Amino acid sequence: MPSISELKQELKKLNAEYAKIKDVPAAERADFGKQLNIKKQNLMQQIADAEAAAEVANVEALDITAPCDINGAQPEFLTADFGSKHPLMTELDRVIGIYQSMGFDIMESRQLDDEFHMFDSLNFAKGHPARDGYDTFRTEEGFIPPAHTSTMQHRVLKANKYKLDAGKSIAVAVPGRVYRNEDVDATHEHTFYQCEGVYVSKDCTLGNMLAILREFFEKYYGQKLNIKTQPGYFPFTEPSLEFLIEKPKSLGGKGDGWLEMLGCGMIHPNVLKMAGIDPTEYQGFAWGGGIDRLVMLRYGLGDVRNFEAAKLDFLKEFTC
Ligand code: DAH
Repeated sequence: MPSISELKQELKKLNAEYAKIKDVPAAERADFGKQLNIKKQNLMQQIADAEAAAEVANVEALDITAPCDINGAQPEFLTADFGSKHPLMTELDRVIGIYQSMGFDIMESRQLDDEFHMFDSLNFAKGHPARDGYDTFRTEEGFIPPAHTSTMQHRVLKANKYKLDAGKSIAVAVPGRVYRNEDVDATHEHTFYQCEGVYVSKDCTLGNMLAILREFFEKYYGQKLNIKTQPGYFPFTEPSLEFLIEKPKSLGGKGDGWLEMLGCGMIHPNVLKMAGIDPTEYQGFAWGGGIDRLVMLRYGLGDVRNFEAAKLDFLKEFTC
């Protein structure tokens, strides 16, 4: 392969050829010029390729076994102009906005919690098999990355008890990231988002809860929906229900598909009691469900793993 300087020499010679155009007989002149142009373009491309290859070859090979100096040169980040909001965050904002418009306060959940908030404060008896159902991760120190946003219920109740004392109700929505140690497939992720709702007053009923949930889902999907409940089991609610919506035709439903959207129920008296709220005076309801699932239905997405996979092709579909 000719070197870059040889190619440049050749280009010089070729450029000199252009001076001869005027001596070429008129009938052949156009063709002569055209051939020169083609050769010149060809040569310039070869020079550009050779220069690019030389630049790559000049980069020193990275020693991936070398110890990393965390105080050394910092990597250069792409400018924020290239970024956009993750679709889950956009949708989480939409969810929060709907709850706020319905009068709910927002309290963010946390990413590391403990046995008490994950289980004890939610009326899970010690050693009860329901604890295993949550496939919880644990740190070496025994902390738990929360497996559901319900870990916040005890805090929400305690922090807002003063409202009940002032004759008001508690209405709080808790969005958060949650983690479960389970096999990942198109419908299961180890990391996903949930939103919890907690409501307590002197006289609220399951009927009030269903009205709130209907309103939430109809606002989120922008249309009237058919809803239903079926019995469920959660140690922290009594009765416990699963809340379903009929898959709307506009979102690919065929009029017979019911989708389970969340778990819910009347807050168990023990949960209220542990937070210092008298269950003979107050009652409440709560619910919690996945955000990823909500969003997948809205956009007709088939694989939950895309949300955490950092696939640019997928994410770019949501940028505007
Ligand atoms: N935390 C439950 C789960 O992730 C869902 C749930 C059920 C939340 C009932 C609630 C509730 O607040 O009352 O499976």
